[in-house]
Amino acid sequence: MKKAIIVGASSGIGRQLAILLASKNYMVAITGRRKYLLEELQSQWPDNFIISDFDITNTSIVATKLENLVTMLGGLDLLILSAGKGDINESLDFNIEKQAIDLNVVGFTTVVDWTIHYFHQQQCGHLAAITSVAGIRGGRQAPAYNASKAFQINYLEGLRQKVTQLKLPIFITDLRPGLVATKPAPVKIKFLIAPVEKAARQMLHGIERKRSVVYVTRRWRLIAFLIRMLPKQIYNRI
Ligand SMILES: NC(=O)c1ccc[n+]([C@@H]2O[C@H](COP(=O)([O-])OP(=O)(O)OC[C@H]3O[C@@H](n4cnc5c(N)ncnc54)[C@H](OP(=O)(O)O)[C@@H]3O)[C@@H](O)[C@H]2O)c1
Repeated sequence: MKKAIIVGASSGIGRQLAILLASKNYMVAITGRRKYLLEELQSQWPDNFIISDFDITNTSIVATKLENLVTMLGGLDLLILSAGKGDINESLDFNIEKQAIDLNVVGFTTVVDWTIHYFHQQQCGHLAAITSVAGIRGGRQAPAYNASKAFQINYLEGLRQKVTQLKLPIFITDLRPGLVATKPAPVKIKFLIAPVEKAARQMLHGIERKRSVVYVTRRWRLIAFLIRMLPKQIYNRI
């Protein structure tokens, strides 16, 4: 039985990935802050899930929490980091920016660094983290969100370079969604928003193939390319 941890599995994409892994007979440790949601999910697959509720922005407890989960699982093959946040912040409220930075930069780095140290020691393993197409360029609606996702994309690339030089079977997958229907969305852009089941399926497919970068859904690879190519004179006005 393969063993996985999903950090941020109480809702959204992480929750759906947890269900998919359980259906493939993984033993999965699911985490998040909302214990009742983790318990609800565990009650559906009691033989496949163990739960742990903790906040990854509380960086001093993260290593101990993850180590405990590995002990309970009896090993670790795959860690998926789904926890992330990005509220629209037109008024540039610093508190909203800070929340995104605390979670998407500080919490993120704490989890992925622990994971790489663990896999290095174990000499194998697979880290997958959900970034975003938003990380391709800056964004006026939530500047810290876009910037934190750019940080994640860049950080994962750095870690990939690091593990490649170790010449060990350690894999890093950057799961890069465009828009996923985890929350109600405006009707006019609905055609761009992937159902969460489809997004999770495509992510898992990419993980199983040990891809470096997975755009979700696939059309977002082209959209990301176009966003990247847009001249700044146009980009600044939209
Ligand atoms: N949905 C999209 O359109 C979209 C697009 C691009 C990228 N993404 C990225 O995909 C990832 C998942 O997003 P989602 O849409 O599935 O969001 P979601 O439904 O809000 O799920 C986020 C998960 O992260 C957990 N989490 C949040 N803050 C945490 C903290 N401080 N410590 C531990 N866990 C925490 C949440 O659990 P608790 O609240 O219980 O802690 C929840 O399980 C994020 O990184 C997001 O940026 C999403």
